[in-house]
Amino acid sequence: MNALTPAGFDIVRIRQDFPILKEKIRGKDLVFLDSAASAQKPRVVIDAMVHAMEHQYANVHRGLHWMSERTTEAYEEVRDALASLLNAPDRSHIVITHSSTEAMNLVARCYGGGILKPGQAVVISAMEHHANLVPWQMLRDSHGIELRIAPITDAGEIDMEGYEALLQDRRVGLVSITHMSNVLGTYTPAERIVKLAHQYGAKAMLDGSQSVVHRRIDVQALDVDFFAMTGHKLYGPTGIGALYAKRELLDAMPPWLGGGDMIRSVSFEVTTWNDAPFKFEAGTPAILEGIGLKAAIDYVQAIGMDAIAAHERALTEHALAKLSAIEGVKVQGRAQDRGGVISFTLDGAHAHDVATLLDRQGIAVRAGLHCAEPLMRRLGVESSSRASFGVYTTMEEIDALAASLIRVREFFQ
Ligand code: ALA
Repeated sequence: MNALTPAGFDIVRIRQDFPILKEKIRGKDLVFLDSAASAQKPRVVIDAMVHAMEHQYANVHRGLHWMSERTTEAYEEVRDALASLLNAPDRSHIVITHSSTEAMNLVARCYGGGILKPGQAVVISAMEHHANLVPWQMLRDSHGIELRIAPITDAGEIDMEGYEALLQDRRVGLVSITHMSNVLGTYTPAERIVKLAHQYGAKAMLDGSQSVVHRRIDVQALDVDFFAMTGHKLYGPTGIGALYAKRELLDAMPPWLGGGDMIRSVSFEVTTWNDAPFKFEAGTPAILEGIGLKAAIDYVQAIGMDAIAAHERALTEHALAKLSAIEGVKVQGRAQDRGGVISFTLDGAHAHDVATLLDRQGIAVRAGLHCAEPLMRRLGVESSSRASFGVYTTMEEIDALAASLIRVREFFQ
């Protein structure tokens, strides 16, 4: 264990929990620094899903038979786990979606399209993932909503004066801003963002796709109206995510997808809706994925979100020091408060070439636009490479990245 690893954080044991980390990939240990795109899965998640398929599987919410009732109970546990993870007042605030992208589209369609009026505005920031940009453009074009972009500083933080200026005419109905940038690793000042939105009469959503993995979330303390998250970055399966929302908003919003489960009664003339959150959950849900995500949430909670945050803070500090010391490497953003996601460029080299050459040395990073094309333009870079950390990342892996980058730089000299 590296001296920088917080005491009591048993990284050796944690790594043993992830079967893929024991594999030799092309004859080498895998140095997986792409967890922000999708994290690896611990044994408990794999086992929970396999167990369900082998022993306890049927459709949920529908059957009166024993197997359906047991599967419903097992699946619905994820709603309680999500409520506990986010500190929601209770499970009725949690809509289960297939992704954070779907969660944000739901808010765009049901709050934006259902409650906001043409002529009102939505504020996002200049460092959003496309999933928190494109749905608002679609709303703008279909519904006459104005889209405003809060500026960011050169350090990669929200320009809070610029943000407040956008709120002042009180035409903003909703602010939707990332809680942690998937490119810069910046944590945004969520409490201040939400408070200012409320002060000017707007609701606030946080895109928590990245933040929920790296630090403790308390939606009640944040007083946020909507919080979107996904499961696959949190060591759970793909195809499952969630939206936290204040209950009165869920009650007021019309549903979007129609089908089974979201209804109370249906006739050819008229259909009435189920109560929230089920009103927003049409069709057979991702049952196995829900069971897997419940296991993933139990897993991170057993380690402790504060312990994970401390581990990743140490990794990030170490990585920033190591990468910044390499000639020709430029780390994007200098935010005061940042998590384990670091994008960088190497002078004279395209990010795709950097990633390919790192991959040849057994190091997996992401390269390109990171689903945040306008941000890359704002940063003035064509593309960048990105190293991102998880609960299983070690200091030695960061040292390996730095050493390999020095070799990659030599290639371009
Ligand atoms: N949103 C994911 C990422 O940042 C895919 O890589």
